Amino acid sequence: MAMTPKTFGYIRQLVLARSAIVLEPGKEYLVESRLVPLAKVHGFATLDDFADTMAAAPFGTMHRQTVEAMTTNETSFFRDIHPFDALKKTLIPEVMARKAASRQLNIWCAAASSGQEPYSVAMLLRENFPELASWKITFIATDLSNAVLAKARSGRYGQLEVNRGLPAPLMVKYFTKDGTEWVIREDIRSMIDFRELNLIEKWPLMPVFDIVMIRNVLIYFDIATKRQILKNIRGVMSPNGILMLGGAETTMGLDDQFERVQVEKGVAYRQISAVGAGRANAAA
Ligand SMILES: C[S@@+](CC[C@H](N)C(=O)[O-])C[C@H]1O[C@@H](n2cnc3c(N)ncnc32)[C@H](O)[C@@H]1O
Repeated sequence: MAMTPKTFGYIRQLVLARSAIVLEPGKEYLVESRLVPLAKVHGFATLDDFADTMAAAPFGTMHRQTVEAMTTNETSFFRDIHPFDALKKTLIPEVMARKAASRQLNIWCAAASSGQEPYSVAMLLRENFPELASWKITFIATDLSNAVLAKARSGRYGQLEVNRGLPAPLMVKYFTKDGTEWVIREDIRSMIDFRELNLIEKWPLMPVFDIVMIRNVLIYFDIATKRQILKNIRGVMSPNGILMLGGAETTMGLDDQFERVQVEKGVAYRQISAVGAGRANAAA
């Protein structure tokens, strides 16, 4: 079911406008492999018919599912491990020292996909910082895609997924087997508030965060979008708050208000000037 350049152009524009994901020319194969099944579900024989119908209709379910289908949701437990070591050994102890008076810890995991990343942090907190049991922890995990959020909320993973990055002792301790799936323990699941949030739309009112993880999503955006999102993140971070990006991402050349901090073998970013930081909301 090959598509015309016009169809590719329409899909490209739709996905860019609604998610900021840039589909470069040459990604036609990706569009076809992700959208042909969706077009069939909606009863269309060709992608061209599917795109023409969407182009003539107001934004609705088909458009939304198209955008979601074009997101890449690749993730794993303790992905790249070094950021998690840095959190465990250095960053969380530092934040806890700073927040000892209020005993409140606010974490945001943006673009969290199917939940492996926030659940990794939740297990890390439970495993290494028992004193947090008496703290108020607000842990929000967000994504654009409802499909991955539903999976994240379910806390259910297949064997291949738990085999990717989850140490066996943590699997045994924090998951129970249900048929072919592994289900995360309720006390870990309930630590996290999974919400829909599109990074390029207006953000809802959120707490001021001590730690923001936004890993492996900026790579999909153009420079102006990356800049705007980093600026908005500064608006929802506490003074000295910690930002964590994916291994192929950086604030360098995008936002000079962040400084890069090498922590163990991991990298984090802090705001250089905390003046004006900590506002409770930001608009894209
Ligand atoms: C590659 S996954 C990264 C998952 C996780 N952070 C990690 O590093 O393992 C990228 C996620 O970004 C989400 N995403 C893409 N565009 C987005 C947008 N505009 N707003 C919010 N989330 C978005 C996708 O739905 C996907 O789940």
